[in-house]
Amino acid sequence: MALLEVKGVQVKFNGFLALRGLDLKIEAGELRCLIGPNGAGKTTALDVICGKARPSVGEIVFDGHKTSRLDEHRIARLGVGRKFQVPSVFRELTVRENLDVAQSKTAGVFRNLGPRKRHDPALQRLAEFVGLADERDEPAGNLSHGQTQWLEIAMLMAQDSRLILLDEPTAGMTAAETRKTAELCRRLKGQHSLIVVEHDMGFIREIGDVISVMHQGRLLAQGTVAEIEVDPLVKEAYLGSGGISHA
Ligand SMILES: Nc1ncnc2c1ncn2[C@@H]1O[C@H](COP(=O)(O)OP(=O)(O)OP(=O)(O)O)[C@@H](O)[C@H]1O
Ligand SMILES: [Mg+2]
Repeated sequence: MALLEVKGVQVKFNGFLALRGLDLKIEAGELRCLIGPNGAGKTTALDVICGKARPSVGEIVFDGHKTSRLDEHRIARLGVGRKFQVPSVFRELTVRENLDVAQSKTAGVFRNLGPRKRHDPALQRLAEFVGLADERDEPAGNLSHGQTQWLEIAMLMAQDSRLILLDEPTAGMTAAETRKTAELCRRLKGQHSLIVVEHDMGFIREIGDVISVMHQGRLLAQGTVAEIEVDPLVKEAYLGSGGISHA
C-alpha cells in the first residue's frame, strides 16, 4: 500500500476549482517532484494533503488513515510535515532549541516533564545532517536564508514527519545553497517520503526521480525528466510561460 493516496480530490475556493480531480500516489521513501505552470494547483495540492485546505470531493489516505476530515494538527501527528514559504522558526531560540521544540511537539506531554538534556545526541545528529552542526548554539535569527530553510527541514525531521512537503524550497537561494538543498533532498529520500514543488528545472534535474506535472488542477503527466520534457501535452501546458525549462 502506498504511504499517501490522493484520490479524485477537488478543492473549491469561492466556486473556483483549484483542484479538479487530483490523483497522486506516493510510496514510502519516495522523492516526488511536483511541477506545473503558475496556478496549476501545486500549492493547493500540498495544502489539501496537510489539512490546510479541505477537499469538497475525493479522499486522502495517509498510512491507512483517511485524513480528509482531520484537522491539521492531527495530520501532522500522523507524520505529515509541511514547510511553508514563510519560515516558522523561532528567531530568538538557538538551532538546538528550535529542534528541541519541534521534537517535543509530537512526543506527547510526558517528554516535557523530564529535565531537558543539553546535548541530545539525536538533535545533534539532525543538526549535522542538514549541515548546521557549527551553528547549533546560534540564534536562528542569525542564520542565512538557506540555513533557515535547512533548519526548518531538520525541524520536520525532529517531528518525525514521514512525509515532508516542500513548496519551492530553493526560492531566494544562491546557486550553492540550491545545490546543497538538492543534495539534502537526495539524502532524505529513503528515510522519508518527500513531495517537492519546484519551478527550478536545474534543481529538478539534480534530484531526479519521478516528476508529476500538474495543469489546471489535475495531473497532466508523470515520468522521468527526460520523458516529461518531450511530452507534447506538457509542452503545450507550458506555452505562454516560456517553456518548461524556463519555468
Ligand atoms: N485562497 C484562495 N482563494 C481563491 N483562489 C485561490 C486560493 N488559493 C489558490 N487559488 C487559486 O487556485 C489556483 C491554484 O493555485 P495554487 O496556488 O495552488 O497554484 P500553484 O500551482 O501553486 O501556482 P504557483 O506556481 O504560482 O505557485 C490559482 O488559480 C489560484 O489563483
Ligand atoms: Mg504555489
